[in-house]
Amino acid sequence: MCGIVGYVGEEQATPVLLNALKKLEYRGYDSAGIAVLDSGRLTVRKAKGRLRVLEEKIATEVIRGHIGIGHTRWATHGEPSDVNSHPQTDVSGKIAVVHNGIIENYAKLKAWLESNGVEFRSETDTEVIAHLVNFNYNGDLLAAVIETIKKLEGSYAIGVICGNEPDRIVAARKDSPLVIGKGVHENLLASDVPALLEYTQDVYYLDDREIAVLYADRTEFYDDYGARREKQSVRVEWDISAAEKNGFEHFMRKEIHEQPAALANTLRTRIKTYAAKSINLEEIGFSPDWAKAGRVVITACGTAWHAGVVGKYVFEHFARVPVDVDIASEYRYREPILNPHDIFIIISQSGETADTLAAMRMAKTAGAKILAITNVVGSTLAREADLVMYTRAGPEIAVASTKAFTTQLVCLYLLAFQFGLLRGTISPERLETLIRELESLPDKAREILREESGIQRFAARQFNKDKVFFMGRLFDYAISLESALKLKEISYAHSEAFAAGELKHGPIALVDKGTLVVALCTQSALFDKMESNIKQVKARGASVLVLTYRDEERFNGSADAIFRIPRVPDELTPVLSVIPCQLFAYYCAIQRGHDPDKPRNLAKSVTVE
Ligand code: M6R
Repeated sequence: MCGIVGYVGEEQATPVLLNALKKLEYRGYDSAGIAVLDSGRLTVRKAKGRLRVLEEKIATEVIRGHIGIGHTRWATHGEPSDVNSHPQTDVSGKIAVVHNGIIENYAKLKAWLESNGVEFRSETDTEVIAHLVNFNYNGDLLAAVIETIKKLEGSYAIGVICGNEPDRIVAARKDSPLVIGKGVHENLLASDVPALLEYTQDVYYLDDREIAVLYADRTEFYDDYGARREKQSVRVEWDISAAEKNGFEHFMRKEIHEQPAALANTLRTRIKTYAAKSINLEEIGFSPDWAKAGRVVITACGTAWHAGVVGKYVFEHFARVPVDVDIASEYRYREPILNPHDIFIIISQSGETADTLAAMRMAKTAGAKILAITNVVGSTLAREADLVMYTRAGPEIAVASTKAFTTQLVCLYLLAFQFGLLRGTISPERLETLIRELESLPDKAREILREESGIQRFAARQFNKDKVFFMGRLFDYAISLESALKLKEISYAHSEAFAAGELKHGPIALVDKGTLVVALCTQSALFDKMESNIKQVKARGASVLVLTYRDEERFNGSADAIFRIPRVPDELTPVLSVIPCQLFAYYCAIQRGHDPDKPRNLAKSVTVE
């Protein structure tokens, strides 16, 4: 997904912009560009490809100026090319714009501008914005941007500079994130916090339809009618080392290894330890009324949806409350039946996923109560939900979500246990036992990570398989879904997940000698069933990897390899069983020669449909 940066201050803007853009590379992009102002003269440089290409292009020239904007583009309108890269400029060459999002009415606006004599150079929707700002410009960039955004339909986060006003950047957003960094004698703009951390930890999260005007010594905020607003900055807890690789070759591996600490962080303060152990959700404003819900609806996308699938099993098992779990992009376009007693749990690492936000807004409009589980403080989801439970995983940079997933699971367990206690389906004594099990997860995750080399060796033998199937039952089915997604995202191996009971209903037709089947076996009551599934795929020539408990002898001899995890109650295994599968995906990607941090065609944050 595109990334925006902006700088105004005492430093030379070009190196700051390039450095900040590097911190947004994880979002995925196919071209990059910057625009810098020096005494009113605008210099724009853009290049298709990685940031390195842009850096090489400008290596021999000095682009001076203390104010500028920059962009990494992920093509939506028009192919990746120099001309389609941002910044886009207007006909006068004075105004430059960077934009994230999609302008849905751009064709209409373009036709109108063309009928007024404007000649377009690119295929982008963004160029429309540059020309409209110019059309509305009457000596005041802020007023021109306000007029322009009135005409835009769709989503946007924009940064605009103008040669006539070389001391300020005007930024605005709707349905696409934008953060302002508050520095000393400098201010910055970015799509995401990691781009700012080297310069400041004090940030302002711009609200939808809010406008920011950045000067070197201050930032002013306005609503979309131009009225001034006061806004408080927020201190970001992460520091720059949290957003860097710290000796790991890839962010993904670093983030997999951060899981023990992240899980402990998710639990921190949420467990009361005096007298009997109990759950403390006061910090999120949780009241017992929430547990009276007639139904829980969980909505999310991708990995967060898989957390939701685990959530369904967890809530139904422990709290005996009916749960629907929906893919947000499906939910928003069907005609869901909402009841006044439903509560919604919306899960999103970024808190900015377009479909997830749309589903959340639909539910909210219908009067439902919204509880968000998200990792990003100040994200749109966090700001619009009634209650927010932060996963506290720290910045997740790799496109493939790992620590965000396991911390989302822990949030769901805490909630389900509290629901269970309040609904009388879990006794205080059982709750204590369950809490102890939750508290043991960080150490048990650490034990799994110590056995990483075994997984690496297995991946070195199996990485070239044509087809990889993950199968399991109940909680293992949910983790099969997540494991298959992880593998396909970064290794590009064809991988699928199915409920093991479905084997004979179709998937077995594909099983042959070239197939690897990963059988997740942690649901003790269904071991017989899994054993027979394993025999069926082995009989057809598949290689089989079993994932089960360290002390479980049942599957000895029935598989080509066995990964073992420490024992926990069967319902809590997802937090642990996914870790070997994450590592397997990581090492298969490495063996296949792919960069796991930059999977093709994928972006970290899907802020458009
Ligand atoms: O930021 P979100 O959790 O809302 O993102 C949802 C999905 O786009 C995300 O989980 C995606 O599936 C990841 N690439 C999975 O690794």
